[in-house]
Amino acid sequence: MDIKSYLKVQAEFINEKLDDFIPKGVPKELFDAMEYSLKAGGKRLRPILVLESAKAAGKKSVDDILDIAIATEFIHTYSLIHDDLPAMDNDELRRGKPTCHIVFGEAMAILAGDGLQSYAFELISKNRAVSPEKLLRVINVLSHGTGIYGMVAGQAADILHEKEGSFNDIEFIHIHKTAKFIQSCCQIGAILANATQEQERALSDYGLYIGIAFQIQDDILDEIGDEVKLGKKVRKDREREKLTYPLVYGIEGSRAKAREYVEKAISSIEILENRKILEELARFIINREV
Ligand code: IPE
Ligand code: IPE
Ligand code: MG
Ligand code: MG
Ligand code: MG
Repeated sequence: MDIKSYLKVQAEFINEKLDDFIPKGVPKELFDAMEYSLKAGGKRLRPILVLESAKAAGKKSVDDILDIAIATEFIHTYSLIHDDLPAMDNDELRRGKPTCHIVFGEAMAILAGDGLQSYAFELISKNRAVSPEKLLRVINVLSHGTGIYGMVAGQAADILHEKEGSFNDIEFIHIHKTAKFIQSCCQIGAILANATQEQERALSDYGLYIGIAFQIQDDILDEIGDEVKLGKKVRKDREREKLTYPLVYGIEGSRAKAREYVEKAISSIEILENRKILEELARFIINREV
């Protein structure tokens, strides 16, 4: 099976499991907004990375960590809902559908994002298969990568650099807004697989590098991608004068940078025996059209 089909099967698997972990007893309007964005589609890359990293570090069955993998998708969906808000990127299309705030209003979209984020950590804390010490590490790594030292810092820098005209800090933005979260997904997989320090380091480095390449490809697709395939409006970065790789390096220069990061990612995991899928996944990230 090629990597594209493999990832599709994995995404379908995540989709099938989603209902088992979706929160119950939530006020209807809030629940509807959360569920709408969660189930609108998406590649499910972050939960897939948790599971594939765990497998690469030698974990045989991942049945006992599905909740933790799915929690990363809750956090990712929150980040997309907030990223699309009028005060942020002001986007009206996401995953091929009107954005959360267009359907449910801004207040409910903000709250749906807040709810998905905090419930993700509640879900992780409820896992009974993994030791409390390990769960605490997972929570630490994930909150570090997605919070004020990671994604939130990157999103702040992204907004502050709009129309600012400086090419500095492009790496900071991409590392923080996207790569650190992806890095934490790979590191969590390692932790949950009882990886050695060396294996955990390898997967963490891998995640950081594919994360940067992933955001470079996202920038490239915003410039030259297809709106229908992507399920989101294109050429918005240019319109909003965002600081992107194509702006700084051009399309070909950005592609070269992304290839460099993919090679670094692949070198990082040389010590892992079961690395084939992660290697192919890294290459796929910069060839994807969606
Ligand atoms: C989009 O993420 C936001 C970025 C960090 C670039 P994805 O491209 O993973 O979005 P979905 O989950 O497939 O919709
Ligand atoms: C978003 O980057 C990164 C997030 C943390 C959500 P973008 O703003 O480029 O993502 P898209 O293009 O809207 O998906
Ligand atoms: Mg954005
Ligand atoms: Mg955006
Ligand atoms: Mg983008």
